[in-house]
Amino acid sequence: MTASAPLLRLDAISKRFEARGRSVLAVDNLSLSVPPESFVTIVGPSGCGKSTLLNIVAGLMRVDSGSVTYRGAPVQVGDRRIGYVTQQDNLFPWRTLRDNILFPLIFANVSRAEAEKRAAYWIDKVGLAGFENAYPHELSGGMRQRGNIARTLIYQPELIMMDEPFGPLDAQTRLQLQKELLRIWQETKVSVLFITHDLAEAIALSSEVAIMSARPGTIDAIRTVTLPYPRDIARIHDNPDYRTIYDDLWQRLERVVEAAQRGSRGEQP
Ligand SMILES: Nc1ncnc2c1ncn2[C@@H]1O[C@H](COP(=O)(O)OP(=O)(O)O)[C@@H](O)[C@H]1O
Ligand SMILES: [Mg+2]
Repeated sequence: MTASAPLLRLDAISKRFEARGRSVLAVDNLSLSVPPESFVTIVGPSGCGKSTLLNIVAGLMRVDSGSVTYRGAPVQVGDRRIGYVTQQDNLFPWRTLRDNILFPLIFANVSRAEAEKRAAYWIDKVGLAGFENAYPHELSGGMRQRGNIARTLIYQPELIMMDEPFGPLDAQTRLQLQKELLRIWQETKVSVLFITHDLAEAIALSSEVAIMSARPGTIDAIRTVTLPYPRDIARIHDNPDYRTIYDDLWQRLERVVEAAQRGSRGEQP
């Protein structure tokens, strides 16, 4: 943890869903801070409340108890300081890549000329130059995900939340996007709150990794990743410090994944 005040602070938040006669406590008494310029990743089993957590921070859902503050004040829906790359890319199929990416700026009353200039910059930054006029269906999954990221970065949020953004991609595309994300993170000083179920990805990218317990989700453990940046993420696995952190967190993750499996079979832990 850095000594500076956190950008985002979740303090003892709980969230219960009541749907069709079923009551699910998704998140329970969860606390987490995201310091400025940090890369914080949450790893946890499927269904433990990770997406719920991001939806809460984005202001799309309310907590039942606890508080969510950004720079010390409650978060409002549509806060432009917080960008959200959701699990599914949601580019508009009827718009070209360029128009998808500049849309948030037009929405924010930026002039068309300025929006086009900034779109060109970000399209280049995420490695999509030459595809400005392509429609989403003409792009691969990895390219659409790059577009999704560019569309979030273009309005220069201070914090970008990403929900398993590279999950469905093949290994090569994934590695390439991980490298690009780290480079952008280092260049822009944006803070990242990242979700993945892949511990190796979490450690390779992050300055801090939090393990989330099985539902009801809470933070089981949090570790600072002491590996220096810039990182060669294709080779970081060979680093002995990486192994130490991995083994420590893997033990905890294994335990929460087993607990999640017991839970889904209806057994008591
Ligand atoms: N809108 C909703 N209504 C009812 N239940 C929900 C809703 N969103 C999520 N849940 C439930 O909350 C739990 C956590 O879901 P989610 O946050 O999507 O998990 P994760 O992203 O970790 O896989 C699950 O049991 C899920 O069924
Ligand atoms: Mg999810």
